[in-house]
Amino acid sequence: MILIILSELLYFNVSTPIIIFIINAENIIGPEYEGRITFFPSTASLELRSLTLDDTGEYGVNAVHDGTLLNGRTTLVIYEKVSNVLVTSSSTDLVEFSASVSLSCSASGSSLSFLWLNGSSEVTASDRVQLTDGGSSLTIINVTRFDQGPFRCRVSNPVSTVTSDPVNLSISYGPENINLILSPSQGYFAVGSDISLTCSVGSRPPAQFKWFLNGDQLLDTGSELRLMNVNMSNSGNYSCQASNNKTLRSQTSEPSAITVLEKISGASVKPSTNLPVEGTSVSLTCEAFGSVFKRNWMKDGSDLTLTDNMTLSDNNRVLTFDTVSRKDSGEYFCQISNPISSDGAKYIMTVNYGPENVQIKGPNKVNIKGTLKLTCSAESTPTARFTWLFNGTEKLTNSAEYIKEEVELSDSGNYTCQAWNNITERTSSSVVHGLTVTGICKSSGCAAGCIAGIVIACCVIVAANVFEKSPGKHFPF
Ligand SMILES: *[C@@H]1O[C@H](CO)[C@@H](O)[C@H](O)[C@H]1NC(C)=O
Ligand SMILES: *[C@@H]1O[C@H](CO)[C@@H](O)[C@H](O)[C@H]1NC(C)=O
Ligand SMILES: *[C@@H]1O[C@H](CO)[C@@H](O)[C@H](O)[C@H]1NC(C)=O
Ligand SMILES: *[C@@H]1O[C@H](CO)[C@@H](O)[C@H](O)[C@H]1NC(C)=O
Ligand SMILES: *[C@@H]1O[C@H](CO)[C@@H](O)[C@H](O)[C@H]1NC(C)=O
Repeated sequence: MILIILSELLYFNVSTPIIIFIINAENIIGPEYEGRITFFPSTASLELRSLTLDDTGEYGVNAVHDGTLLNGRTTLVIYEKVSNVLVTSSSTDLVEFSASVSLSCSASGSSLSFLWLNGSSEVTASDRVQLTDGGSSLTIINVTRFDQGPFRCRVSNPVSTVTSDPVNLSISYGPENINLILSPSQGYFAVGSDISLTCSVGSRPPAQFKWFLNGDQLLDTGSELRLMNVNMSNSGNYSCQASNNKTLRSQTSEPSAITVLEKISGASVKPSTNLPVEGTSVSLTCEAFGSVFKRNWMKDGSDLTLTDNMTLSDNNRVLTFDTVSRKDSGEYFCQISNPISSDGAKYIMTVNYGPENVQIKGPNKVNIKGTLKLTCSAESTPTARFTWLFNGTEKLTNSAEYIKEEVELSDSGNYTCQAWNNITERTSSSVVHGLTVTGICKSSGCAAGCIAGIVIACCVIVAANVFEKSPGKHFPF
């Protein structure tokens, strides 16, 4: 098959028995060369065919040229081409960190050398990678997920190189790094929401999943749990468990809390009485529909500052005034919230009090026929109603002002004003307001002389002090 032409005259093979003697131009050929050797005397070449590994050796030639003996030597090495390269593995289905694997490479051919490829790079020996049996065996101790290959064995000798088919290792690992992800990501949801929980985990082969609510297993399997149109009973701590049926390991996630809430609506602030009276006890109750989490009170637009007479109870639901005071009047606002919604309501509280400090304003002296106007005031909420009394008993009128035109001498006396609050049902009286009607008449139609007698008659009573304010009418005494 292989043809070797030696272009020198070959005489004998040094290391193997003599093969050819050329004596008197006659060939004598050893039996193992029968039929596969030809000598060409004209060029002194020897042709060897159908080579076998045994043809390897040293060849020599002697020639006589012009009476001189010449000789030459050459070495012939016969190789067998590489073939049948095959990789076998002790196992291809392995579990990370708990297995070792041996790959062995077999091939036909002579003078073989071995090289292992991991993907496209050459495998080198290390702590966990051993190359033995002249490189034909590769042992990976304590395989990792990265040792999946493909591994190939490359076999060569000087005349050929053959690379094996690839061998892939399947290395199972995990589950690890389990993580439960909520979508949307917050933990609070309104009734009617759709929630998706996804369990992510590193695992080969893919993990199988179980789901738990407050520790009880749910029927769902698969990496995603969908909760549609949730209600409050879907609240709880969810967790997922991933198992790998190859590694026989499993991992459980941290629980994720889901709280389903009703939106807050219809907030209201209701007082214990619609007509709070100063000094009594009043409470305001803040209510709403829905899942109430938190209540916050404000007064007149600022955060409520509790004073000594106030207490908040029942998680801020009830604001109590032990003895309410007029200073507590104002706009109260209660904000009710939970993580998904809020609502608020206000109540304007008016604390009723009084009457107090009833006072009469007006003159203590009026000229006869003049106009008397007395005004009564009181501190009171609601506004007080007034009653005027003359000389302690006689009721005059029921308004804040007492007006009398053309007073008579008989209007002199003691005026008092009584204030009455119809909510507090309290009454309070002013101090007595004394009035003197003086005897100077203001009659514009008369000449001073004609009425002098009348004037004198009516002014006698008050002769001591006449400082008449009436413009232009001064009566000398
Ligand atoms: C295998 O390798 C891992 C990570 O390198 C190591 O933690 C583990 O101890 C090793 N196991 C053995 C049996 O050598
Ligand atoms: C194979 O190659 C990967 C990277 O491609 C490497 O992480 C791994 O350790 C290698 N394994 C061996 C046995 O050489
Ligand atoms: C192991 O798990 C894989 C991936 O989840 C699955 O395809 C396979 O059927 C499981 N085998 C057994 C025996 O349960
Ligand atoms: C969820 O777990 C936390 C912490 O263990 C606990 O405080 C909470 O009450 C649980 N929630 C439910 C709905 O069980
Ligand atoms: C009212 O009281 C005053 C002082 O006591 C008295 O002088 C006057 O006569 C009384 N008037 C009437 C109408 O009773």
